[in-house]
Amino acid sequence: MGYVGLPIAVAFAGAGHDVVAVDVDPRKIGELRAGRSYIEDVPSATVAAAAPRIEATTRYAALASCDAVLICVPTPLTANREPDLGPLVTAARGLSEVLRRGQLVVLESTTYPGTTRERLAPILEKSGLVAGTDFHLAYSPERVDPGRTDYTLRTTPKVVGAITPACLEHAARLYGEVCDTIVRVSTPEAAELAKLLENIFRSVNIALVNELAMLCDRMKIDIWEVVDAASTKPYGFMRFEPGPGMGGHCLPVDPFYLSWRAREFDMATEFIELAGKVNQQMPYHCVAKVERLLNDAGKPVRGSKIALLGVSYKAGVSDVRESPGLKIVTLLAALGADLHYHDAYVPELREQGLRCEPLDDVLAGCDLALIVTAHPGIDHDAAVAGAPLALDLRGVTRGSGGHAVLL
Ligand SMILES: NC(=O)c1ccc[n+]([C@@H]2O[C@H](COP(=O)([O-])OP(=O)(O)OC[C@H]3O[C@@H](n4cnc5c(N)ncnc54)[C@H](O)[C@@H]3O)[C@@H](O)[C@H]2O)c1
Repeated sequence: MGYVGLPIAVAFAGAGHDVVAVDVDPRKIGELRAGRSYIEDVPSATVAAAAPRIEATTRYAALASCDAVLICVPTPLTANREPDLGPLVTAARGLSEVLRRGQLVVLESTTYPGTTRERLAPILEKSGLVAGTDFHLAYSPERVDPGRTDYTLRTTPKVVGAITPACLEHAARLYGEVCDTIVRVSTPEAAELAKLLENIFRSVNIALVNELAMLCDRMKIDIWEVVDAASTKPYGFMRFEPGPGMGGHCLPVDPFYLSWRAREFDMATEFIELAGKVNQQMPYHCVAKVERLLNDAGKPVRGSKIALLGVSYKAGVSDVRESPGLKIVTLLAALGADLHYHDAYVPELREQGLRCEPLDDVLAGCDLALIVTAHPGIDHDAAVAGAPLALDLRGVTRGSGGHAVLL
């Protein structure tokens, strides 16, 4: 019942279905029972309206009554950057104990090709039931983009792949209740890889424009002007913007599920590794630029008050997982900077020992204002106007005539 599970649960409830919402996190279950949302994209009013149809619980036993079970657990990386299927295995074991004949099970979590058939099916079959014969099994990747409002679950085509044609039809009928367009593919593996292709496509293109941003910095060319100009081509070009690096639960993590799997097939996935390397370099580039700006003003980083605006990984969301903002904080703290941040979405950075402060307090007396994530509702031009130095990593102040230096 996280970023993926909650929107799906309220969508099915909204379509008139009874929903059992299972999570191991009792806090989320408590919020759901109270009809409150804990995810920005899902308004509390929507959860409250759906609440009479949602049975929220930490117990898997409730799943026995369901016609379909959608698995939306996290798929992180281990410390060695290998797939960590721990949450999926735990969820599958729990489900296998209550699985019954005729149910449909769909994995929604992003993962490497082969997971549904080779990892999920055998655990579910510990129930004594056979996948594709006694219960239906499919994979359908979630495409939610936190903060996006122009496309919804209903209007975003849903890719589905299953282990038999009958399983595919069951899954397609299910999603047809909440999605306008169903895209059937021949296998779960094709659906698993399609999701990874989408994420790797973004990761590689962001890395490309980030590398050009670093080159432009040396060549004294404005990367934003270059991107704007290239974007006027009506075909064959897609706009990607530079920034302080990639964050969130998906792009910094998912591509490595495929590079890990590819090694089993004697393949090195060069694009994935290279994109990861370039994107991970960006916070270092940003901090070097901070150092340079302060140096030009005759100031060391040590002891300088730096006002950070936005620390979550993207505008309009509270998610700080893998946020480049955290890396920037860590690097600047190691250089002895006096750090203060304002991010209305992130009350505290506990590990970094920082708390969100009012915008005016953060900016008062600062030596440099650093726009890391440009949340809506803030006039960034006005905000940084009074700071002696300003660095804008998101390009939101460009063309304003202000003094902020761009990435
Ligand atoms: N967040 C996104 O934008 C997004 C988009 C597309 C795909 N995905 C993929 O969807 C999956 C879920 O991502 P998310 O962002 O929703 O993660 P999340 O951390 O927000 O939510 C996952 C939830 O699963 C719960 N959970 C963990 N183990 C469990 C278990 N054994 N049984 C029941 N609940 C359990 C957690 O408590 C948490 O509430 C991941 O594979 C992710 O890559 C995420």
